[in-house]
Amino acid sequence: MKKIKKAVIAVAGMGTRFYPITKVLPKEMLPIIDKPILSYIIDEVVESGIEEIILIISKEKELIRNYYSQNIKLEMSLKEKNKLNELQVIKDIVPNNIKISYVIQDKPLGTAHAINLAKDYINDEPFAIIFGDDIVDSKVPVLKQMIDIYKKYDCNVFAAKEVDKSNVNKYGILKYKNDSTKEVECIVEKPNINEAPSSLATIGRYIVKPEVFKEISTLEKVNREYILTDAFEKMMKYQSFYACEFDGKHFDTGNKLEYIEAVINYALNDSKYSEYVKEFIKKNI
Ligand code: G1P
Repeated sequence: MKKIKKAVIAVAGMGTRFYPITKVLPKEMLPIIDKPILSYIIDEVVESGIEEIILIISKEKELIRNYYSQNIKLEMSLKEKNKLNELQVIKDIVPNNIKISYVIQDKPLGTAHAINLAKDYINDEPFAIIFGDDIVDSKVPVLKQMIDIYKKYDCNVFAAKEVDKSNVNKYGILKYKNDSTKEVECIVEKPNINEAPSSLATIGRYIVKPEVFKEISTLEKVNREYILTDAFEKMMKYQSFYACEFDGKHFDTGNKLEYIEAVINYALNDSKYSEYVKEFIKKNI
């Protein structure tokens, strides 16, 4: 079985749900305390054993490339001023021994189009796909939980969670072939409440076999976009997919309320801030 070594992270979306700030700041660079959302994802990916990251960005998001590139001038200036702690913080932005490549998506043609741009980096191996809005706070990184399922069944894997029935029209929704193994029978992209096969939603994390590229090449546009879920539907005819109902707290940080939850969650996790934040909330409610 091939090792999962590469992750494609799609961060090209316009972030209209988070206007006005995302007019100039990529939504994945919004801070959760002092680190951008994207760094929480990169930490998860690296802790899951990934060795190479391919970031699909838009041309308006060059700031992301700047953030993850070494800034020798800044490093030298911190060193001269003997600010060694700060120097280490700056150096730690880019994880050791990880290769990061960038591909520009120059037209907003959907999730399948974005992933297809990474084709030349993947070769013939299974890989991880992550959407830059979704972060999960968990003891075991959620991608690692998914890789464990991949290793067990040699299959494609969806990260999934139960959502409120009223929200099924925002997600790819799964139906199981087998409730105990969590083998998936079908996926329906953003169904109406009455047509949803369940309320088990895929969040933005997948492990997929390389055949996905063959299926993407046959897709037709739906509402001007190529949708990744449509490629999965086609693959399901001849490959197995399992769900990973992960342990962890998921935040869709493209949604303002969940972004606020994420900031509070990570502040409460950190002993430097937790007591202060609890006191502040107590005094102000
Ligand atoms: C995409 C996928 C959808 C998935 C969701 C998870 O939708 O198309 O199947 O459930 O991400 O966040 P989007 O959020 O891009 O509309």
